[in-house]
Amino acid sequence: MYSTFTIIKKYLQYQLTSLNGKGHGIHSPFVFDFVKKVLNNRKTIECAKEIESRRQFLLKRKEIIEVEDFGAGSSIIKKNKRSIHRIAATSLKPKKYAQIIHRIVAYYKPIHIIEIGTSFGITTSYIAKANPLGKVNTFEGSASIANIAKTNFSKLQVNNVTLHQGEFSRTLPDVLNELEGIDFAFIDGNHQKNSTLQYFELLLLKSSNNTFFIFDDIHWSAGMESAWSEIKKHPQVQLTIDLFFIGLVFLKKELKEEQHFTIRF
Ligand SMILES: C[S@@+](CC[C@H](N)C(=O)[O-])C[C@H]1O[C@@H](n2cnc3c(N)ncnc32)[C@H](O)[C@@H]1O
Repeated sequence: MYSTFTIIKKYLQYQLTSLNGKGHGIHSPFVFDFVKKVLNNRKTIECAKEIESRRQFLLKRKEIIEVEDFGAGSSIIKKNKRSIHRIAATSLKPKKYAQIIHRIVAYYKPIHIIEIGTSFGITTSYIAKANPLGKVNTFEGSASIANIAKTNFSKLQVNNVTLHQGEFSRTLPDVLNELEGIDFAFIDGNHQKNSTLQYFELLLLKSSNNTFFIFDDIHWSAGMESAWSEIKKHPQVQLTIDLFFIGLVFLKKELKEEQHFTIRF
């Protein structure tokens, strides 16, 4: 992982060099539409209040839980004791990004949805509520974290989510085998280059032309930046949008040429 100083430097560079977040200078009609209708959509998100109050509740919980630590290579190294409020403060996508993911799902309305990395299910809830007709399969390795997520789904009345608890390398292939296809995947689990690329290849096997992906923390480490640049070069990838803390990937073959945008958000 890069130091905080390096990430701030990279973020400032992104702010200075990215395309205008209002859409000026963006010539792709698809991306222009995305900027106008999704990125700049300021309408209130109905479910936000209850989901954010759940986040606040977690941020106040001082209890210590025992969580599995999934290391590089996806093997459990050890069990760690961590406080709930600390996990809530450091592992969950912040409100701004969880909400843009909600707006993206609400706009494109994917049905078969995968989330790799549930944690406490805060972003999962935003995704699930964005399209009540969607079916969300979310994956979490740690049993104690997964149990808190399940309580959150029940408190928030999130009824279209199935949580698969266990190491991704075991649970993900089994679930994907059972699915006919996927429309959207949010990859926010194991932030290692090789694992990220392996999950992408697995997900691609079940993808169609309209499937899209969001990768988390694409500038978090040299490994994740390298994974992101390989994803951009992948022969099936036609369009990417870099929003710094997340990266969007579309396969859309009808877009005449490959396009890669970095847009201020
Ligand atoms: C960054 S958090 C997910 C945050 C969540 N998407 C959100 O925004 O609210 C990543 C989660 O993935 C789990 N995880 C990481 N590597 C894993 C692995 N190899 N197998 C199973 N779970 C794993 C961790 O326990 C952690 O809870």
